[in-house]
Amino acid sequence: MASEEAVIATNDDAAQCKRYAVEKGYWVDPYISLMISKGTAHHAPEINRGYYARITSIRILLEKFIRLTNRKCQVVNLGAGYDTTFWKLKDAHLTPEKFVEIDFAPVTSRKCHHIKSKRPLLDKITNEDEDIMLSQSDLHSANYHIVGANLVDLAELDKKLQQSGIDRSIPTVFISECVLVYIEANKSAKLIKWISDNFPTAFFINYEQVNMGDRFGQVMIDNLKTRDCYLYGVSACDSLQSQMQRFTSNGWRDADALEMNKVYNCLPQSEIKRIEKLELMDERELMEQLFSHYCLVWAYKDVNNIGLEEIDLSQS
Ligand SMILES: C[S@@+](CC[C@H](N)C(=O)[O-])C[C@H]1O[C@@H](n2cnc3c(N)ncnc32)[C@H](O)[C@@H]1O
Repeated sequence: MASEEAVIATNDDAAQCKRYAVEKGYWVDPYISLMISKGTAHHAPEINRGYYARITSIRILLEKFIRLTNRKCQVVNLGAGYDTTFWKLKDAHLTPEKFVEIDFAPVTSRKCHHIKSKRPLLDKITNEDEDIMLSQSDLHSANYHIVGANLVDLAELDKKLQQSGIDRSIPTVFISECVLVYIEANKSAKLIKWISDNFPTAFFINYEQVNMGDRFGQVMIDNLKTRDCYLYGVSACDSLQSQMQRFTSNGWRDADALEMNKVYNCLPQSEIKRIEKLELMDERELMEQLFSHYCLVWAYKDVNNIGLEEIDLSQS
């Protein structure tokens, strides 16, 4: 396991990058500034466009899942960090029956603190007739739950999901956004298999590195190492094939994976035109090189054939 503090620090980085891009106008998120303070660093346009593509593509798949199930579904965000999706779904009247976030306890404790102390966050998780249950690292409300657990400890994960009232028979979407790469590939494979063994109707959205075997990948690995942060799961990020296979060989019916250059081209082109006007970009090759090292993967199992194989990035 990589140094836990170093992995936890990657959440502050991600949240700060998201806040920066939001303030530049890439997408709307009134909640991210309540989770993380403003950083001082300047972020290059390709980084901001990368976050835009990451956020938007995950959101497209997630919303399709929620609409397909008519909101009679559950969302489990693995390694959620300071993700604000729950609040944005609530604003869009797309709240699922249950939304559970899991991360290391030091992260969930801090997020619980932000929620407790900031009304715009707290107001959206409270119902007049329902109490909130709070401990140091966990919070349970009517449909939003955040729990501290290590994703490699499946017994702990199971216990925390049960405490959140997860119903395994309900369609459930699992999200891991830049998370599995920090976990040894054999352990993330066990997690992926445990989910498929326990949830008969499930969808998985995974965003992370790909094509990591080249020079660019090695530089990324080395840079993180200097911060005591190890990409222990990088062997699963070798290719789109290895990214899909970790699902299909662990009980999932099928999987798809796209490099972020392809994903970017699938996004609504009017929006792409809008965001490309926000900042000038000198060298598009830098963006393409960066985007070729990240991918979006989705996988499903669907015993009742509710139509999960239809979910993709296409616009209807
Ligand atoms: C790069 S951050 C991404 C956070 C969030 N998903 C996002 O994209 O904004 C990685 C997150 O995964 C969490 N994480 C990594 N390994 C974990 C594990 N074994 N158990 C629980 N959380 C883990 C970290 O604490 C961190 O919050």
